[in-house]
Amino acid sequence: MKTDRIYVIDFDSTIIQVEALDELAAIALKGSPDCDSIVKEIQSITRRGMEGQITINESLQERLGLLRATKKHIEALTKVLKKKITPSFRNNRAFLRKHARNIYVFTSGFKEYVLPIIKELGLRPENTFANTFEYDRKGNIVGFDLNNHLAHARGKISQLQALKLKGKICVIGDGYTDYEMKESGLVDQFIAFTENVYREVVAQNADYVARSFDEVLYLHHQPMKLSYPKSKIKVLLLEGVHPCAIDAMRAEGLSVETRSEALDEKELCQAMADVSLLGIRSKTRVTEAVLKAAPKLMAVGAFCIGTEQVQGDACALHGVPVFNAPYSNTRSVVELALGEMIMLMRRIFEVSTGLHAGKWSKSASGCFELRGKKLGIVGYGNIGSQLSVLAESLGMEVYYYDIVERLALGNARKCRTLHELLALSDVVTLHVDGRGSNKNMMGEKEFGAVKKGAVFLNLSRGHVVSIPALVHALKAGQLAGAAVDVYPAEPLSNKEEFLSELRGLPNVILTPHIGGSTLEAQKNIGDYVAQRLIEYVNTGSSFGSVNFPNIQLPGLNKAHRLLHIHRNVPGILAEINSILAKGKINILGQYLKTTENIGYVITDVNKEYSPQIIQELKHVHDTIKFRVLY
Ligand code: NAI
Repeated sequence: MKTDRIYVIDFDSTIIQVEALDELAAIALKGSPDCDSIVKEIQSITRRGMEGQITINESLQERLGLLRATKKHIEALTKVLKKKITPSFRNNRAFLRKHARNIYVFTSGFKEYVLPIIKELGLRPENTFANTFEYDRKGNIVGFDLNNHLAHARGKISQLQALKLKGKICVIGDGYTDYEMKESGLVDQFIAFTENVYREVVAQNADYVARSFDEVLYLHHQPMKLSYPKSKIKVLLLEGVHPCAIDAMRAEGLSVETRSEALDEKELCQAMADVSLLGIRSKTRVTEAVLKAAPKLMAVGAFCIGTEQVQGDACALHGVPVFNAPYSNTRSVVELALGEMIMLMRRIFEVSTGLHAGKWSKSASGCFELRGKKLGIVGYGNIGSQLSVLAESLGMEVYYYDIVERLALGNARKCRTLHELLALSDVVTLHVDGRGSNKNMMGEKEFGAVKKGAVFLNLSRGHVVSIPALVHALKAGQLAGAAVDVYPAEPLSNKEEFLSELRGLPNVILTPHIGGSTLEAQKNIGDYVAQRLIEYVNTGSSFGSVNFPNIQLPGLNKAHRLLHIHRNVPGILAEINSILAKGKINILGQYLKTTENIGYVITDVNKEYSPQIIQELKHVHDTIKFRVLY
């Protein structure tokens, strides 16, 4: 694609991520006792220069005076800077190389370290305007060439005037001296570049604020390395989502806004106009009204285990997959179960409560080791099977019962019926899911089948146990103790009183549904859900989503990926393929999966195709959403 636009680009904090003289200071002063204070002083001078509070000449003189740098330090600096090229410039090297004739670099920095970076990006030394150092015979930097436009106040303006460039000039930079070129009336557009640093005073005066070079190319309809600038993808994270998720998404180049609180439906509707990814925890409800107010929404991340707060079907019909973190707290539940087994077998809770009340009751009666005891696990899923491994390492003999065929881990043994397991176990622990048919699966009959004197744990779901039957088994001595974390009816907040017949029974540990509540689990949830969202943006993979056809996709390799979400009606795939066949497009791979309501077709194609095809695919009947990735 041709461009007659001329780009004038700043170097420090624009083409590179840092201010080169700050880096040089750190290198030159390394090991000196006053290093930190001098580096801070240099950074403060840099900042005052960038914001227009002092002239360039003053800024350079003051900083060089403090630096005590030599030629050797410049060589070291160049090596450092090569690793600090701004990612969006590095990623768009092909564009820079192709349009190098029309790209100029203006900087009050120094050619000695600027030119190696310029060459690395395929830009032209003859289009690069920078200062030059003056050295003494020993190679110490003693000053700089004052006959250079860029050594003086408003130097970028006089350099531009001297060049007499013809064409539409666009200046890209992060500093006040870049904006000054626009103010002088010599250029057509000033873009404040904020990928590395955001300066309010510069952004306020800009025609446009770009968070990456991709965004500049997008603005100018130029081909980019990416199909869409990631910095234009806005992420809204509510309810104090773990900082690791915020970091992961920012590192990916997405624009992240965070709020510590939940939003009600009205507030959320108002916030959604330009949001592409929404992150919530358990309190924010995602309803049809929210979806209607969110035309750009690509996906929802529920940074928690359950997704009852999200209308999953409505999301699917809007082409929005919902991701959660179902297994991020597995280990936390397993550890609590193990701890509680030991506490129950030693009657610790009972004696500890007694001791708090002043009652000393030293005795071994009714107290046992876990070692050699039989553990019966009901529900051998993620939690049950992990518990199996850890319990065995404590010397327990593990038995399990599951309604589906599950591979026995370690030396665990499978029971054919629940009753078989109940009859032989010294410890019975429930880890079944909450399906409706499991309601009261542990009732009077089942507790009657338990080995006399066994202990019982439920950290799965409240309604799977009949509480009156459990209370009866405890009072009758059928069970020697119990640990319960989940209840048929649970208080909705910490302010509500917990009411249960289990209160006050000896050797019964009651916990307020905290089996999975640890800081590690919170971090796991943050990592896991952020990765699912990032993967969906980058590859289209819907794997792990709770409401979408689950497709795990290979990475993109020299192909363009067409992602088509549609209502599940007959004939869509045929229509997509007939459009591709008509356009003589070479299909490299195709993946289709449907649910009752929607279908998701992913087609990897050769890079060469007419833009008309995209328009036609967008207009296939019953299309919900369509996007292209590369
Ligand atoms: P999972 O889905 O991986 O495993 C559940 C297993 O139970 C499956 O293998 C299933 O076939 C089996 N199952 C279902 N009904 C059964 C029955 N009647 N008899 C025997 N086996 C049956 O689930 P995961 O992740 O292991 O979680 C287990 C339970 O723990 C779930 O109910 C979950 O809600 C709960 N949980 C509780 C937490 C807490 O804070 N207390 C935290 C995390 C999970």
